[in-house]
Amino acid sequence: MSSPEESFIIREYKPADFQAICDIDRKCFSEAIAYSPEEMAFGFVQRGAFALVAEHSGSIVGFVLAYQKKQPIGHIVTIDILPEFRRAGLGRKFMEIAEEQLKARGATRVILEVSVNNEGAIRFYNALGYATRRWLRSYYPDGTDAWLMEKALAAQRL
Ligand SMILES: CC(C)(COP(=O)(O)OP(=O)(O)OC[C@H]1O[C@@H](n2cnc3c(N)ncnc32)[C@H](O)[C@@H]1OP(=O)(O)O)[C@@H](O)C(=O)NCCC(=O)NCCS
Repeated sequence: MSSPEESFIIREYKPADFQAICDIDRKCFSEAIAYSPEEMAFGFVQRGAFALVAEHSGSIVGFVLAYQKKQPIGHIVTIDILPEFRRAGLGRKFMEIAEEQLKARGATRVILEVSVNNEGAIRFYNALGYATRRWLRSYYPDGTDAWLMEKALAAQRL
């Protein structure tokens, strides 16, 4: 399989991408868990918010949205990749870039929430060094619980 750098163009999000990323989120999650456009927009107005998108053959096939409200803690809001583009290393690449950007803004650790039923994503985050920290009861609108996961970022080399 070709590397993600060869197959995908990863670039910064532009406002014109908003509809495409909302559509991807709806394809990745059940109706109860997918973000409404208002909820997605709320992610973008958080302090220190940024997003990356991946294009394949001119179409957006995935994105990651993150922010950094409090200086030492970066927050991954969501990372979504269309099913046919999974397991090609794109998720890992997105997380590496997002973590670097959060680190450059002063983050020493990154947190995120994931449904306790989302085994694939939990394994993905585990593979990237995230550990489950706290059980968040009824975190999602349908009452599903979530795990709060966390990773310490390696110190910058001087
Ligand atoms: C979770 C998600 C972002 C992973 O993206 P991806 O591009 O498929 O991940 P990668 O190819 O970079 O995987 C990196 C490693 O993570 C692990 N991993 C990824 N998906 C996995 C799965 N479904 N089951 C088990 N391990 C998995 C593997 O160790 C993988 O390495 P390998 O393929 O060499 O075995 C993607 O499955 C997705 O968009 N899911 C739907 C949305 C979602 O649940 N997002 C998380 C929101 S909290």
